[in-house]
Amino acid sequence: AFQPRVFSGVQPTGNLHLGNYLGAVSRWVPLQDQMPTIFCVVDSHAITAGFPDRAELVNATREVTAAYLAAGIDPAKSIIFNQSQVREHTELAWIFNCVARMGWLNRMTQFKEKAGKNKENASVGLFAYPNLMAADILAYRATHVPVGDDQKQHLELTRDIAAKFNNDFADRIKELGVGVPNPTPSPELPEELYFPLTEPMIAGPATRIMSLRDGTKKMSKSDASDLSRINLKDDADTIAKKIRKAKTDPDALPSETDGLEGRPEADNLVGIYAALSGKTKQDILGEYGGQQFSVFKPALSDLAVDKLAPMTDEMRRLTAEPGEIDAILKTGAEKASAIAEPVLKDVRKIIGF
Ligand code: ADP
Ligand code: NA
Repeated sequence: AFQPRVFSGVQPTGNLHLGNYLGAVSRWVPLQDQMPTIFCVVDSHAITAGFPDRAELVNATREVTAAYLAAGIDPAKSIIFNQSQVREHTELAWIFNCVARMGWLNRMTQFKEKAGKNKENASVGLFAYPNLMAADILAYRATHVPVGDDQKQHLELTRDIAAKFNNDFADRIKELGVGVPNPTPSPELPEELYFPLTEPMIAGPATRIMSLRDGTKKMSKSDASDLSRINLKDDADTIAKKIRKAKTDPDALPSETDGLEGRPEADNLVGIYAALSGKTKQDILGEYGGQQFSVFKPALSDLAVDKLAPMTDEMRRLTAEPGEIDAILKTGAEKASAIAEPVLKDVRKIIGF
């Protein structure tokens, strides 16, 4: 059987925000005690929208690493590294460029959003980004990927790439004896697989945290309005101000039975409260149903400050001594290479290099 293994990552572009933390990083922490875990700072993805200034890229990579550590990712339990230091990612991505079909990538909604109106001027890397993401995951034959809801389509593509590779090279995989019996036999797949069909782990009350200014847009690093997101580096006053100014409707919070349908802003704030407190949205409505936002917002901001302040302090401490971070990334890259190198050796044999 495939060895269960978690892979996930965040781009080193700009500030990490509450969406990245609640939708991704915070959910990685308990997984460390359940199976082998690999967490990557995906710097090769960060150049798809233009090459950042070198110092900026180095700093952002350290900052994301500091956020992982401050959130509770433990280098003794997890492999932590940056993508550009393990060459197998880009080597496998090239091979996947030749597995994936243009039509598949043409359907990716994130490319359409990120490229905007001027698609002709987007980098080829931005278009092919999901193939690199598939390579990030499959270079470790990872079985589980905990991410936010916005990555769902990219993970489906990862499965499509794995399935096509397994099918196209079924005979060769068998001949070389490098396959694993398909854990869920189906007529669409051969009996032995080289790559697992990776499971997305997208669950909980915070899979899609929305902008605090617009309940229809996801909270994002690239939003022009800083009031739209809570950054992990924001201080207590800034967090309180942003929550106070968060857009809401005029009604009180609904009861558990009325629910949050049709009230995207209320839903978002209740989801944030639930995720920060480790409870469900139902629990929170049980506590606050019938109360006004003038009561709920200060409670939410106290909770957010309580949870985030120790992390922010730890991030500051870590980024002040980058030597410690750099050493962790270096060791992590060595451990990651030790897994990815033999995979690429197999892949080269499978495809005939
Ligand atoms: P961003 O989308 O802010 O540029 P990344 O693309 O680096 O961030 O995503 C890092 C992780 O954070 C991914 O798992 C992604 O799904 C998750 N994520 C990003 N934005 C949100 C959000 N608003 N709500 C929940 N999860 C999110
Ligand atoms: Na994203």
